[in-house]
Amino acid sequence: MKQIPERSVTEILDIRRKYLNPNMSVSYQQPLKIVRGSGQYLFDDNGIRYLDMVNNVCHVGHCHPRVVAAGTEQMRTLNTNTRYLHDLLAEYTLRLTAAFPDPLEVCFFACTGTEANDLAIRLARAATGGRDIICVEHAYHGHSPALIDISPYKHGSAGGEGAPEYVRTAPVPDIYRGLYREDDQHAGQHYAQHVSNICDSLDNSDRKLSAFFCESLLGCGGQIILPDGYLKAAYQAVRQHGGICVADEVQVGFGRVGTHMWAFEQQGVVPDIVTLGKPIGNGHPISAVITTRKIADAFMNGMEYFNTFGGNPVSCAIGLAVMDVIDEEHLQQHALATGGYLLEQLYQLQPAHELIGDVRGAGLFIGIELVSDRHSRQPAANRAEEVVEKMRHRGVLLSTDGPDHNVIKIKPPMPFNKADADLFLTEFDAVLNAIG
Ligand SMILES: Cc1ncc(COP(=O)(O)O)c(C=O)c1O
Repeated sequence: MKQIPERSVTEILDIRRKYLNPNMSVSYQQPLKIVRGSGQYLFDDNGIRYLDMVNNVCHVGHCHPRVVAAGTEQMRTLNTNTRYLHDLLAEYTLRLTAAFPDPLEVCFFACTGTEANDLAIRLARAATGGRDIICVEHAYHGHSPALIDISPYKHGSAGGEGAPEYVRTAPVPDIYRGLYREDDQHAGQHYAQHVSNICDSLDNSDRKLSAFFCESLLGCGGQIILPDGYLKAAYQAVRQHGGICVADEVQVGFGRVGTHMWAFEQQGVVPDIVTLGKPIGNGHPISAVITTRKIADAFMNGMEYFNTFGGNPVSCAIGLAVMDVIDEEHLQQHALATGGYLLEQLYQLQPAHELIGDVRGAGLFIGIELVSDRHSRQPAANRAEEVVEKMRHRGVLLSTDGPDHNVIKIKPPMPFNKADADLFLTEFDAVLNAIG
């Protein structure tokens, strides 16, 4: 390959500033030039190693040799599209659909989470004849116009124009700072009642429901774990009103929650449509939509679904390798054990630091909510930002999220292990002591 010049952090920032979309952010006050990745670690241009606790996309580990080899080999052989028959497309479809409970059996391929969710909207509208969508406060589903419409995280923040007339928003089922809290044993049902009320109000108007979109665990909303019974009751109400239930697993699928392959399974439900993205290709752009035969048939209206890149042989080879590695390296079980250990240690650390308001998680999807006052649960956004910056200088990469940006989100590549957890805990404890 032709050698490209090696540029300093300042030079690259300068080029970005002058020539690249200015609406893109850069992490950290002192930006990092990352040049290499391996497993759960990233390395900068000075050879310094960072523990990556954020990147759930490189699910089975940065540059996993098995995934790299599968992609490279297939790129050397052939890359076309789904209009030709190919063994890899057949095999991957069988593998992926086999990982879902009945009646989820039909698969569509695309390239990003946004494309998958856009397609889910079209499928739901085709199956119901309705147009309206219920989403959840602070949810994020993607960056297309339709998905910004159903993503309060975007349309309700800077630059957003609010929800359009076809979108209804249910309260975020957050038992730490939401309407119903941890002392309410029926919080799940109480939150779901709001979904049911929205369905009723649509029935009493000239509008028609198409879908209820909900992430199986809320990512951008602040690492929210849905309270027990929430999806069961919400799905029941939506279905009673003729709507389709969509589980967005773009962030949390593929064994991250430890107990199950898919996070919706923790709620004891089976959605009508599941959307997959990020971890599915370990960094290669793949996404998928899994649905029922009935819904897929309703979409057969004469207009072909063709996606130039979706389901190409290289993507299928990579997707299959990711599933092989999850199985062979027992990554789901590993997430359960390691995530459980990290959560337990965080609970033990919590009493020593007033800033830690709440610790919550499922497997290797964990949130630490920082508050300036434990009683009022006032968010401590500046402190969260400070923690993230200081941890970066100690070799641990984190980020914040949630509507108040005060939740430290943890969703590392799945090989993240107990020694990594201990390293994080030591540094986190030291940083919290330092900032007081
Ligand atoms: C829950 C969820 N759904 C969908 C998306 C959109 O995925 P993509 O950025 O691949 O389009 C994201 C991205 O962050 C997400 O978090």
